[in-house]
Amino acid sequence: MLRQMHLAGFQIAAPVTHSHAAWRHRDTRADFLDLAYYQDIARTLERGKFDFLFFADVLATPRTYADDFRDPIRRGTQAALGLDPTLVVAALVSATRHLGLAVTKSATYYAPYDIARSFATLDHLSRGRVAWNVVTSLNQAEAQNFGYDEPLDHDTRYERAEEFLEAAFGLWASWDEGAILNDKASGVFADPGKVHELDHAGEYFKIRGPLNVPRSPQQRPVIIQAGSSERGKDYAARWAEAIFEIDPTPAGRRAYYRDVKDRVADFGRDPDAVKILPAVMPFIGRSEAEARDKQAYHNALADPISGLITLSLHTNHDFSRYPLDEPVADIAVSGTLGLFAVARALSLNNDLTLRDVGKLYAQGVMLPQLVGTPEQVADQLEAIHKAEEADGFMVSAAHSPGAFHEFVDLVVPELQRRGSFRREYAGPTLRDQLGLGPASLVPVPRHRFTPRGMRRVAAG
Ligand SMILES: Cc1cc2nc3c(=O)[nH]c(=O)nc-3n(C[C@H](O)[C@H](O)[C@H](O)COP(=O)(O)O)c2cc1C
Repeated sequence: MLRQMHLAGFQIAAPVTHSHAAWRHRDTRADFLDLAYYQDIARTLERGKFDFLFFADVLATPRTYADDFRDPIRRGTQAALGLDPTLVVAALVSATRHLGLAVTKSATYYAPYDIARSFATLDHLSRGRVAWNVVTSLNQAEAQNFGYDEPLDHDTRYERAEEFLEAAFGLWASWDEGAILNDKASGVFADPGKVHELDHAGEYFKIRGPLNVPRSPQQRPVIIQAGSSERGKDYAARWAEAIFEIDPTPAGRRAYYRDVKDRVADFGRDPDAVKILPAVMPFIGRSEAEARDKQAYHNALADPISGLITLSLHTNHDFSRYPLDEPVADIAVSGTLGLFAVARALSLNNDLTLRDVGKLYAQGVMLPQLVGTPEQVADQLEAIHKAEEADGFMVSAAHSPGAFHEFVDLVVPELQRRGSFRREYAGPTLRDQLGLGPASLVPVPRHRFTPRGMRRVAAG
Protein backbone atom coordinates (compact mmCIF):
# COMPACT_ATOMS: atom_id res chain seq x y z
CA MET A 1 0.00 0.00 0.00
CA LEU A 2 1.14 3.55 -0.72
CA ARG A 3 2.81 5.11 2.32
CA GLN A 4 0.84 8.28 2.97
CA MET A 5 2.53 11.45 4.14
CA HIS A 6 1.78 13.30 7.39
CA LEU A 7 1.08 17.03 7.47
CA ALA A 8 1.44 19.52 10.31
CA GLY A 9 1.01 23.29 10.31
CA PHE A 10 3.81 25.35 11.87
CA GLN A 11 2.77 28.37 13.89
CA ILE A 12 3.96 30.70 16.61
CA ALA A 13 1.36 32.56 18.66
CA ALA A 14 2.78 35.75 17.20
CA PRO A 15 2.70 37.97 14.08
CA VAL A 16 5.51 36.05 12.32
CA THR A 17 6.53 32.43 11.99
CA HIS A 18 9.61 31.19 10.09
CA SER A 19 8.96 34.05 7.69
CA HIS A 20 10.06 37.29 9.32
CA ALA A 21 8.34 39.06 6.41
CA ALA A 22 4.95 37.55 7.23
CA TRP A 23 3.66 40.46 9.33
CA ARG A 24 4.33 42.94 6.49
CA HIS A 25 2.74 40.75 3.81
CA ARG A 26 -0.29 42.39 2.09
CA ASP A 27 -2.43 39.28 2.82
CA THR A 28 -1.52 38.73 6.49
CA ARG A 29 -4.19 39.49 9.05
CA ALA A 30 -3.21 41.74 11.94
CA ASP A 31 -5.43 40.16 14.61
CA PHE A 32 -2.74 37.82 15.99
CA LEU A 33 -3.74 38.77 19.55
CA ASP A 34 -7.29 37.56 18.91
CA LEU A 35 -8.44 33.97 19.41
CA ALA A 36 -10.37 34.16 16.12
CA TYR A 37 -7.06 34.29 14.22
CA TYR A 38 -5.87 30.97 15.68
CA GLN A 39 -9.34 29.43 15.37
CA ASP A 40 -9.27 30.21 11.66
CA ILE A 41 -5.89 28.48 11.25
CA ALA A 42 -6.92 25.44 13.32
CA ARG A 43 -10.28 25.00 11.55
CA THR A 44 -8.60 25.37 8.16
CA LEU A 45 -6.02 22.71 8.96
CA GLU A 46 -8.74 20.43 10.29
CA ARG A 47 -10.71 20.92 7.07
CA GLY A 48 -7.51 19.82 5.28
CA LYS A 49 -7.26 16.70 7.52
CA PHE A 50 -3.86 17.82 8.84
CA ASP A 51 -2.34 15.66 11.58
CA PHE A 52 -1.67 18.59 13.89
CA LEU A 53 -1.12 22.29 14.43
CA PHE A 54 2.27 22.96 16.02
CA PHE A 55 3.21 25.97 18.17
CA ALA A 56 6.90 26.84 18.59
CA ASP A 57 7.93 29.04 21.51
CA VAL A 58 10.82 31.01 22.96
CA LEU A 59 10.92 32.44 26.49
CA ALA A 60 12.51 35.82 25.87
CA THR A 61 12.58 38.82 23.57
CA PRO A 62 15.73 38.45 21.43
CA ARG A 63 18.68 40.46 22.68
CA THR A 64 21.76 38.45 21.62
CA TYR A 65 22.37 40.50 18.45
CA ALA A 66 24.32 43.62 19.50
CA ASP A 67 23.00 43.13 23.05
CA ASP A 68 19.84 45.02 22.10
CA PHE A 69 16.16 44.09 22.48
CA ARG A 70 14.76 47.31 20.96
CA ASP A 71 15.76 46.67 17.37
CA PRO A 72 14.06 43.22 17.27
CA ILE A 73 10.90 44.86 18.58
CA ARG A 74 11.07 47.66 16.02
CA ARG A 75 11.59 45.18 13.18
CA GLY A 76 9.04 42.64 14.46
CA THR A 77 11.45 39.70 14.30
CA GLN A 78 10.67 36.14 15.32
CA ALA A 79 10.13 36.00 19.11
CA ALA A 80 9.82 39.80 19.43
CA LEU A 81 6.54 38.82 21.06
CA GLY A 82 4.76 35.55 21.68
CA LEU A 83 1.59 34.59 23.49
CA ASP A 84 1.76 31.57 25.81
CA PRO A 85 1.03 28.70 23.38
CA THR A 86 -0.35 26.39 26.09
CA LEU A 87 -3.18 28.80 26.74
CA VAL A 88 -3.82 29.37 23.03
CA VAL A 89 -4.04 25.61 22.51
CA ALA A 90 -6.37 25.23 25.49
CA ALA A 91 -8.67 27.69 23.76
CA LEU A 92 -8.41 25.80 20.44
CA VAL A 93 -9.52 22.51 21.94
CA SER A 94 -13.16 23.50 21.64
CA ALA A 95 -12.73 24.89 18.10
CA THR A 96 -11.61 21.52 16.73
CA ARG A 97 -12.56 17.85 17.01
CA HIS A 98 -9.85 15.85 15.24
CA LEU A 99 -6.85 18.11 14.73
CA GLY A 100 -3.83 17.34 16.93
CA LEU A 101 -2.48 20.27 18.96
CA ALA A 102 1.25 20.46 19.68
CA VAL A 103 2.80 22.85 22.19
CA THR A 104 6.47 23.69 22.72
CA LYS A 105 7.46 23.71 26.36
CA SER A 106 10.96 23.97 27.76
CA ALA A 107 12.46 21.06 29.71
CA THR A 108 14.97 23.54 31.08
CA TYR A 109 12.97 26.11 33.02
CA TYR A 110 9.85 24.39 34.27
CA ALA A 111 9.30 21.56 36.72
CA PRO A 112 8.21 18.08 35.54
CA TYR A 113 5.15 18.13 37.81
CA ASP A 114 3.92 21.38 36.31
CA ILE A 115 4.39 20.24 32.70
CA ALA A 116 3.04 16.71 33.29
CA ARG A 117 -0.07 18.23 34.81
CA SER A 118 -0.68 20.73 31.97
CA PHE A 119 -0.31 18.12 29.25
CA ALA A 120 -2.40 15.49 31.04
CA THR A 121 -5.10 18.15 31.44
CA LEU A 122 -4.92 19.13 27.76
CA ASP A 123 -5.01 15.47 26.74
CA HIS A 124 -8.24 15.00 28.73
CA LEU A 125 -9.88 18.16 27.44
CA SER A 126 -8.93 17.43 23.82
CA ARG A 127 -9.86 13.73 24.17
CA GLY A 128 -6.40 12.58 23.19
CA ARG A 129 -5.13 15.13 20.68
CA VAL A 130 -2.17 16.77 22.38
CA ALA A 131 1.58 16.67 21.76
CA TRP A 132 4.53 18.18 23.62
CA ASN A 133 7.51 19.57 21.69
CA VAL A 134 10.32 19.11 24.22
CA VAL A 135 12.93 21.83 23.83
CA THR A 136 16.15 22.49 25.71
CA SER A 137 16.28 26.28 26.03
CA LEU A 138 19.61 27.65 24.93
CA ASN A 139 19.56 31.42 24.89
CA GLN A 140 21.03 33.71 27.52
CA ALA A 141 18.05 36.07 27.39
CA GLU A 142 15.83 33.14 28.41
CA ALA A 143 18.18 32.20 31.26
CA GLN A 144 18.03 35.78 32.52
CA ASN A 145 14.23 35.61 32.67
CA PHE A 146 14.36 32.54 34.93
CA GLY A 147 16.89 33.53 37.56
CA TYR A 148 20.16 32.53 35.87
CA ASP A 149 22.96 34.58 34.32
CA GLU A 150 23.84 32.01 31.66
CA PRO A 151 22.00 29.10 30.01
CA LEU A 152 23.02 25.56 30.94
CA ASP A 153 25.77 24.22 28.72
CA HIS A 154 24.77 22.08 25.75
CA ASP A 155 25.15 18.57 27.17
CA THR A 156 23.87 19.50 30.63
CA ARG A 157 20.67 20.80 28.98
CA TYR A 158 20.15 17.38 27.44
CA GLU A 159 21.07 15.52 30.68
CA ARG A 160 18.44 17.53 32.52
CA ALA A 161 15.96 16.89 29.73
CA GLU A 162 16.59 13.10 29.99
CA GLU A 163 15.70 13.11 33.68
CA PHE A 164 12.83 15.51 33.03
CA LEU A 165 11.10 13.09 30.68
CA GLU A 166 11.81 10.05 32.89
CA ALA A 167 10.09 11.90 35.74
CA ALA A 168 7.20 13.09 33.56
CA PHE A 169 6.57 9.54 32.28
CA GLY A 170 6.47 8.36 35.92
CA LEU A 171 3.98 11.08 36.84
CA TRP A 172 1.70 10.22 33.91
CA ALA A 173 1.65 6.62 35.20
CA SER A 174 0.39 7.75 38.65
CA TRP A 175 -3.21 6.70 38.06
CA ASP A 176 -3.94 3.25 36.65
CA GLU A 177 -6.73 3.00 34.15
CA GLY A 178 -9.98 2.23 35.94
CA ALA A 179 -8.88 3.92 39.17
CA ILE A 180 -11.94 6.18 39.20
CA LEU A 181 -15.01 4.29 40.43
CA ASN A 182 -17.38 7.18 41.00
CA ASP A 183 -19.53 4.81 43.09
CA LYS A 184 -22.15 7.12 44.58
CA ALA A 185 -23.89 4.32 46.49
CA SER A 186 -20.82 3.10 48.41
CA GLY A 187 -19.16 6.49 48.63
CA VAL A 188 -15.92 5.26 47.07
CA PHE A 189 -14.77 7.79 44.54
CA ALA A 190 -11.53 6.15 43.45
CA ASP A 191 -9.46 3.06 44.30
CA PRO A 192 -6.40 4.29 46.21
CA GLY A 193 -4.63 1.01 45.40
CA LYS A 194 -4.58 2.13 41.78
CA VAL A 195 -2.87 5.47 42.40
CA HIS A 196 0.90 5.47 42.89
CA GLU A 197 3.51 7.77 44.33
CA LEU A 198 6.55 8.45 42.20
CA ASP A 199 9.25 9.09 44.80
CA HIS A 200 11.69 10.31 42.20
CA ALA A 201 15.04 11.52 43.52
CA GLY A 202 17.54 12.24 40.77
CA GLU A 203 20.30 14.65 39.95
CA TYR A 204 17.97 17.49 38.96
CA PHE A 205 14.54 16.71 40.41
CA LYS A 206 12.95 15.43 43.60
CA ILE A 207 9.27 14.62 43.15
CA ARG A 208 6.99 12.72 45.47
CA GLY A 209 3.80 12.39 43.45
CA PRO A 210 1.28 11.11 42.63
CA LEU A 211 0.19 13.45 39.83
CA ASN A 212 -3.23 14.87 40.65
CA VAL A 213 -4.57 14.24 37.15
CA PRO A 214 -5.81 10.74 36.23
CA ARG A 215 -4.59 8.72 33.25
CA SER A 216 -5.39 10.60 30.03
CA PRO A 217 -6.81 9.24 26.75
CA GLN A 218 -3.40 8.90 25.03
CA GLN A 219 -1.74 7.92 28.37
CA ARG A 220 0.52 10.92 27.80
CA PRO A 221 1.13 13.52 25.08
CA VAL A 222 2.80 12.51 21.83
CA ILE A 223 6.46 13.52 22.21
CA ILE A 224 7.95 15.82 19.55
CA GLN A 225 11.59 16.89 19.44
CA ALA A 226 13.94 18.85 17.17
CA GLY A 227 17.44 17.83 18.20
CA SER A 228 19.92 18.37 15.42
CA SER A 229 23.34 18.03 17.10
CA GLU A 230 24.81 14.56 17.79
CA ARG A 231 23.55 14.69 21.37
CA GLY A 232 20.23 16.13 20.21
CA LYS A 233 19.67 13.37 17.65
CA ASP A 234 20.29 10.71 20.30
CA TYR A 235 17.81 12.45 22.58
CA ALA A 236 15.24 12.50 19.79
CA ALA A 237 15.96 8.84 18.99
CA ARG A 238 15.27 7.82 22.60
CA TRP A 239 12.13 9.86 23.18
CA ALA A 240 10.55 11.40 20.10
CA GLU A 241 7.54 10.14 18.14
CA ALA A 242 7.68 13.04 15.70
CA ILE A 243 10.77 15.06 14.83
CA PHE A 244 10.79 18.57 13.44
CA GLU A 245 13.74 19.22 11.14
CA ILE A 246 15.12 22.14 9.13
CA ASP A 247 17.40 21.44 6.18
CA PRO A 248 17.07 23.07 2.74
CA THR A 249 19.11 20.42 0.88
CA PRO A 250 17.94 16.98 -0.32
CA ALA A 251 21.30 15.44 0.63
CA GLY A 252 21.13 16.94 4.13
CA ARG A 253 17.54 15.74 4.68
CA ARG A 254 18.34 12.26 3.41
CA ALA A 255 21.41 11.97 5.66
CA TYR A 256 19.42 13.21 8.69
CA TYR A 257 16.55 10.82 7.97
CA ARG A 258 18.84 7.78 7.69
CA ASP A 259 20.96 8.80 10.67
CA VAL A 260 18.00 9.37 13.01
CA LYS A 261 16.15 6.22 11.93
CA ASP A 262 19.35 4.20 12.59
CA ARG A 263 19.67 5.79 16.01
CA VAL A 264 16.03 4.96 16.78
CA ALA A 265 16.76 1.30 15.93
CA ASP A 266 19.88 1.43 18.13
CA PHE A 267 17.60 2.30 21.04
CA GLY A 268 15.54 -0.81 20.32
CA ARG A 269 12.62 1.14 18.88
CA ASP A 270 10.73 0.69 15.62
CA PRO A 271 12.08 3.32 13.18
CA ASP A 272 8.59 3.70 11.72
CA ALA A 273 7.27 4.80 15.12
CA VAL A 274 9.17 8.08 14.75
CA LYS A 275 7.90 10.43 12.05
CA ILE A 276 10.45 12.86 10.62
CA LEU A 277 8.84 16.08 9.44
CA PRO A 278 11.07 18.67 7.73
CA ALA A 279 9.59 22.15 7.39
CA VAL A 280 8.73 23.63 3.98
CA MET A 281 7.30 26.97 2.86
CA PRO A 282 4.94 26.76 -0.13
CA PHE A 283 4.16 29.50 -2.67
CA ILE A 284 1.16 28.43 -4.74
CA GLY A 285 -0.16 30.10 -7.91
CA ARG A 286 -2.64 29.39 -10.71
CA SER A 287 0.44 29.38 -12.93
CA GLU A 288 4.09 28.87 -12.12
CA ALA A 289 4.70 32.52 -13.02
CA GLU A 290 2.09 33.67 -10.51
CA ALA A 291 3.67 31.51 -7.81
CA ARG A 292 7.11 32.95 -8.59
CA ASP A 293 5.68 36.48 -8.33
CA LYS A 294 4.26 35.63 -4.90
CA GLN A 295 7.62 34.24 -3.81
CA ALA A 296 9.49 37.31 -5.10
CA TYR A 297 7.04 39.70 -3.39
CA HIS A 298 7.45 37.85 -0.08
CA ASN A 299 11.23 37.47 -0.21
CA ALA A 300 11.72 41.16 -1.02
CA LEU A 301 10.13 41.98 2.36
CA ALA A 302 12.67 39.89 4.30
CA ASP A 303 15.48 42.00 5.73
CA PRO A 304 18.84 40.36 6.52
CA ILE A 305 19.31 42.02 9.90
CA SER A 306 16.03 40.53 11.17
CA GLY A 307 17.37 37.15 10.08
CA LEU A 308 20.70 37.67 11.83
CA ILE A 309 18.85 38.67 15.01
CA THR A 310 17.16 35.24 14.95
CA LEU A 311 20.36 33.40 13.96
CA SER A 312 21.98 35.06 16.98
CA LEU A 313 19.05 34.04 19.20
CA HIS A 314 19.16 30.41 18.00
CA THR A 315 22.93 30.05 18.28
CA ASN A 316 23.26 32.24 21.41
CA HIS A 317 26.04 34.02 19.56
CA ASP A 318 26.23 37.70 18.58
CA PHE A 319 26.54 37.89 14.78
CA SER A 320 26.65 41.71 14.80
CA ARG A 321 30.39 41.32 15.41
CA TYR A 322 31.17 39.93 11.95
CA PRO A 323 31.46 41.59 8.51
CA LEU A 324 28.23 41.27 6.57
CA ASP A 325 29.84 40.68 3.19
CA GLU A 326 32.11 37.78 4.07
CA PRO A 327 31.31 34.07 4.43
CA VAL A 328 29.91 32.80 7.74
CA ALA A 329 32.90 32.31 10.04
CA ASP A 330 33.93 28.95 11.49
CA ILE A 331 33.05 29.62 15.11
CA ALA A 332 31.98 27.57 18.11
CA VAL A 333 28.44 28.50 19.15
CA SER A 334 26.73 27.40 22.34
CA GLY A 335 23.12 27.42 21.11
CA THR A 336 21.66 25.11 18.52
CA LEU A 337 24.67 23.41 16.93
CA GLY A 338 22.65 21.67 14.23
CA LEU A 339 21.02 24.80 12.78
CA PHE A 340 24.35 26.62 12.80
CA ALA A 341 25.96 23.70 10.92
CA VAL A 342 23.22 24.01 8.27
CA ALA A 343 23.79 27.80 8.00
CA ARG A 344 27.53 27.39 7.66
CA ALA A 345 27.25 24.60 5.09
CA LEU A 346 24.89 26.81 3.05
CA SER A 347 27.43 29.63 3.14
CA LEU A 348 30.40 27.41 2.21
CA ASN A 349 28.70 25.40 -0.53
CA ASN A 350 27.00 28.34 -2.24
CA ASP A 351 29.44 31.20 -1.69
CA LEU A 352 26.95 32.99 0.53
CA THR A 353 27.92 35.91 2.76
CA LEU A 354 26.66 36.47 6.29
CA ARG A 355 24.20 38.99 4.81
CA ASP A 356 22.89 36.33 2.37
CA VAL A 357 22.44 33.85 5.23
CA GLY A 358 20.67 36.57 7.22
CA LYS A 359 18.34 37.06 4.25
CA LEU A 360 17.60 33.29 4.09
CA TYR A 361 16.99 33.28 7.82
CA ALA A 362 14.57 36.20 7.48
CA GLN A 363 12.75 34.60 4.54
CA GLY A 364 12.10 31.47 6.55
CA VAL A 365 14.92 30.22 8.80
CA MET A 366 16.48 28.59 5.69
CA LEU A 367 13.38 26.51 4.88
CA PRO A 368 13.12 25.18 1.35
CA GLN A 369 10.54 27.18 -0.62
CA LEU A 370 8.23 25.04 -2.77
CA VAL A 371 6.98 27.16 -5.65
CA GLY A 372 4.46 26.41 -8.39
CA THR A 373 0.96 25.35 -9.25
CA PRO A 374 -0.83 23.01 -6.81
CA GLU A 375 0.24 20.09 -9.01
CA GLN A 376 3.87 21.22 -9.01
CA VAL A 377 3.93 21.73 -5.23
CA ALA A 378 2.33 18.27 -4.78
CA ASP A 379 5.02 16.85 -7.10
CA GLN A 380 7.77 18.40 -4.96
CA LEU A 381 6.27 17.11 -1.70
CA GLU A 382 5.87 13.63 -3.15
CA ALA A 383 9.43 13.63 -4.46
CA ILE A 384 10.86 14.48 -1.02
CA HIS A 385 8.60 11.91 0.62
CA LYS A 386 9.42 9.12 -1.83
CA ALA A 387 13.16 9.82 -1.64
CA GLU A 388 13.10 8.90 2.08
CA GLU A 389 13.93 12.41 3.16
CA ALA A 390 10.70 12.73 5.15
CA ASP A 391 7.65 10.94 6.58
CA GLY A 392 5.68 14.12 6.14
CA PHE A 393 5.99 17.88 6.40
CA MET A 394 5.73 20.81 8.72
CA VAL A 395 4.04 23.39 6.48
CA SER A 396 5.07 26.95 7.28
CA ALA A 397 2.99 29.88 6.04
CA ALA A 398 4.56 32.84 4.23
CA HIS A 399 1.45 34.84 5.16
CA SER A 400 -1.22 33.92 7.58
CA PRO A 401 -3.82 32.49 7.70
CA GLY A 402 -4.14 32.81 3.88
CA ALA A 403 -1.23 30.51 2.96
CA PHE A 404 -2.90 27.71 4.93
CA HIS A 405 -6.18 28.33 3.07
CA GLU A 406 -4.37 28.06 -0.27
CA PHE A 407 -2.56 24.88 0.75
CA VAL A 408 -5.69 23.21 2.10
CA ASP A 409 -7.93 24.26 -0.80
CA LEU A 410 -5.47 23.58 -3.62
CA VAL A 411 -2.64 21.22 -2.65
CA VAL A 412 -4.40 18.88 -0.19
CA PRO A 413 -7.10 17.80 -2.74
CA GLU A 414 -4.34 17.12 -5.27
CA LEU A 415 -2.43 14.96 -2.76
CA GLN A 416 -5.68 13.17 -1.85
CA ARG A 417 -6.50 12.54 -5.50
CA ARG A 418 -3.10 10.89 -5.88
CA GLY A 419 -3.64 8.78 -2.74
CA SER A 420 -0.63 10.25 -0.96
CA PHE A 421 -2.63 11.97 1.80
CA ARG A 422 -5.63 10.85 3.87
CA ARG A 423 -9.21 11.79 2.99
CA GLU A 424 -10.55 11.07 6.48
CA TYR A 425 -9.09 11.11 9.96
CA ALA A 426 -7.91 7.69 11.11
CA GLY A 427 -9.43 7.85 14.61
CA PRO A 428 -10.10 10.13 17.55
CA THR A 429 -6.52 10.65 18.82
CA LEU A 430 -3.37 12.25 17.47
CA ARG A 431 -1.62 8.89 17.89
CA ASP A 432 -4.20 7.47 15.47
CA GLN A 433 -3.41 10.11 12.83
CA LEU A 434 0.32 9.52 13.20
CA GLY A 435 -0.14 5.73 13.12
CA LEU A 436 1.80 5.37 16.36
CA GLY A 437 -0.04 2.59 18.20
CA PRO A 438 -0.56 2.59 21.98
CA ALA A 439 1.76 4.78 24.04
CA SER A 440 4.24 3.29 26.47
CA LEU A 441 4.84 4.91 29.84
CA VAL A 442 8.06 2.97 30.34
CA PRO A 443 11.01 5.08 29.18
CA VAL A 444 13.37 3.46 26.68
CA PRO A 445 16.39 2.53 28.86
CA ARG A 446 19.00 5.21 29.22
CA HIS A 447 21.89 2.72 29.33
CA ARG A 448 21.54 2.17 25.62
CA PHE A 449 22.81 5.69 25.18
CA THR A 450 26.40 5.89 23.99
CA PRO A 451 27.66 8.38 21.45
CA ARG A 452 26.83 7.14 17.97
CA GLY A 453 30.48 7.16 16.89
CA MET A 454 31.38 4.75 19.72
CA ARG A 455 28.57 2.38 18.74
CA ARG A 456 29.82 2.30 15.18
CA VAL A 457 33.32 1.39 16.37
CA ALA A 458 31.93 -1.30 18.68
CA ALA A 459 29.93 -2.77 15.81
CA GLY A 460 33.09 -2.88 13.67
C1 LIG B 1 13.95 22.74 13.76
C2 LIG B 1 14.18 23.23 15.16
C3 LIG B 1 13.13 23.86 15.85
C4 LIG B 1 13.30 24.30 17.16
N1 LIG B 1 12.28 24.95 17.82
C5 LIG B 1 12.50 25.45 19.06
C6 LIG B 1 11.50 26.19 19.75
O1 LIG B 1 10.39 26.41 19.29
N2 LIG B 1 11.80 26.68 20.98
C7 LIG B 1 13.03 26.48 21.57
O2 LIG B 1 13.23 26.93 22.69
N3 LIG B 1 13.98 25.77 20.95
C8 LIG B 1 13.74 25.27 19.70
N4 LIG B 1 14.73 24.57 19.09
C9 LIG B 1 15.98 24.32 19.81
C10 LIG B 1 16.05 22.92 20.39
O3 LIG B 1 15.13 22.73 21.41
C11 LIG B 1 17.39 22.67 21.00
O4 LIG B 1 17.55 23.52 22.11
C12 LIG B 1 18.45 22.97 20.02
O5 LIG B 1 18.19 22.26 18.84
C13 LIG B 1 19.83 22.69 20.59
O6 LIG B 1 20.16 21.45 20.39
P1 LIG B 1 21.06 20.94 19.18
O7 LIG B 1 22.39 21.51 19.46
O8 LIG B 1 20.86 19.50 19.36
O9 LIG B 1 20.52 21.42 17.87
C14 LIG B 1 14.56 24.12 17.79
C15 LIG B 1 15.59 23.48 17.10
C16 LIG B 1 15.43 23.05 15.81
C17 LIG B 1 16.58 22.37 15.11
